[in-house]
Amino acid sequence: MAFIQFPKEMKWGAATASYQIEGAVNEGGRGLSIWDTFSKTPGKVYNGDNGDVACDSYHRYEEDVEIMQDLGINMYRFSVAWPRIFPNGIGEVNQEGLDYYHRLVDRLLEAGIEPLCTLYHWDLPQVLQEQGGWDNRETIEAFVHYAKTMFKEFDGKITKWITFNEPWCVSYLSNFLGAHAPGYTDLQLATNVAHHLHVAHGKTVIAFRELGTQGEIGYAPNVEWNEPYSDKQEDKDACARANAFFIEWFFDPVFKGSYPTFLVDWFKEKGVTVPIQEGDMDIIHQPIDFVGINYYTGSVGRYKKDEGLFDHERVDTGYQKTDIGWNVYPEGFYNVLRYLTKRYGAFPIYITENGSCYNDDVENGKVNDQGRIDYLKQHLTSLHRAMQSGVNIKGYLTWSLLDNFEWAEGYKMRFGIVHVNYRTLERTKKESYYWYQHMLENNFFEV
Ligand code: BGC
Repeated sequence: MAFIQFPKEMKWGAATASYQIEGAVNEGGRGLSIWDTFSKTPGKVYNGDNGDVACDSYHRYEEDVEIMQDLGINMYRFSVAWPRIFPNGIGEVNQEGLDYYHRLVDRLLEAGIEPLCTLYHWDLPQVLQEQGGWDNRETIEAFVHYAKTMFKEFDGKITKWITFNEPWCVSYLSNFLGAHAPGYTDLQLATNVAHHLHVAHGKTVIAFRELGTQGEIGYAPNVEWNEPYSDKQEDKDACARANAFFIEWFFDPVFKGSYPTFLVDWFKEKGVTVPIQEGDMDIIHQPIDFVGINYYTGSVGRYKKDEGLFDHERVDTGYQKTDIGWNVYPEGFYNVLRYLTKRYGAFPIYITENGSCYNDDVENGKVNDQGRIDYLKQHLTSLHRAMQSGVNIKGYLTWSLLDNFEWAEGYKMRFGIVHVNYRTLERTKKESYYWYQHMLENNFFEV
């Protein structure tokens, strides 16, 4: 038996996102987002589910903050629905939208919970999509305007900001793989989107500093880890490409002011170029205060000609899988954190998402989600090991506080440490919730 103990000053929390939990899509003057449209397009979301009601957190936020308080976390990551603030993307600001987030943030602060606010967790105003969405550089200006409005309005109240959640998902998953809104399958378009997100991020950081906003700003890319199946150079190269698609492609521009040449060349062979305009790379290359890392899974991979984008295939070496079919791969968590630190230095990191899908239901008033407890233990052990080796971890936020609208999977896949009955909206604390609560009380756990 061993004890895993974390530093006292470490922040602990849970994360959610607006469209996944709020519901109330037609209330408070909110405009439509691309997820309203996408989820109502037949065949896009499992079971035709949508976020109209979700967890109804728009109305139940007080109950949710009470749950957080009882859990004992000191940080909560949520996102703002851009169409609540600007129903038309730009133009007139919607006071009712601002008021909602003031109520939420006030309750959090009263409860001693620090808000960590994501500006973009995927709910682009639909009107902007109709003008080309993230493919159109005007969307960058609209985003910066929205961000500045938020910085001024919440200055001193919210002191930790994230520009973008998972830019890889916003670009490639949504515009090349077609799995998320707006659902296109065009590699050039996806690459344009990725680049424009970088520029929007950089411009937002510049605006944040110019306004003299109090606090810190960062972004939250999702990373995966692919471990080479063998020592063969071709397997190592294939995994390096697959990793770089998540890592270098989204970190190098911000940390180094350039795109990784080996991937630029790889894309060029496929007829795809990055639409860089003069000055873009300097704008993107802004010092930031922290990075949010979202990690769920990884795998073993090897070279296979013409497989996927990178001549890379995943090999099933028998890892346990969560209910969504993702490998439980805590070793990858350690490896990716080590890799990031080696490549970019010991920059401050918040784990802004890490969690697992287990669809256990309520039985006799209890939800026995042992799979999630095991996942948490394994990943926190890897995290601890990474910290011991010099990775600069400031906090850990699990995904998610509540079961919620899991995008294309609808309500089928549950990631919460609190169960939500989508018929009655009743919340039931799972066994993983009590495990996390106990860990937070003691600041250690046994393995
Ligand atoms: C996203 C969340 C999502 C989670 C589980 C992340 O990609 O940021 O919104 O629910 O993973 O799929």
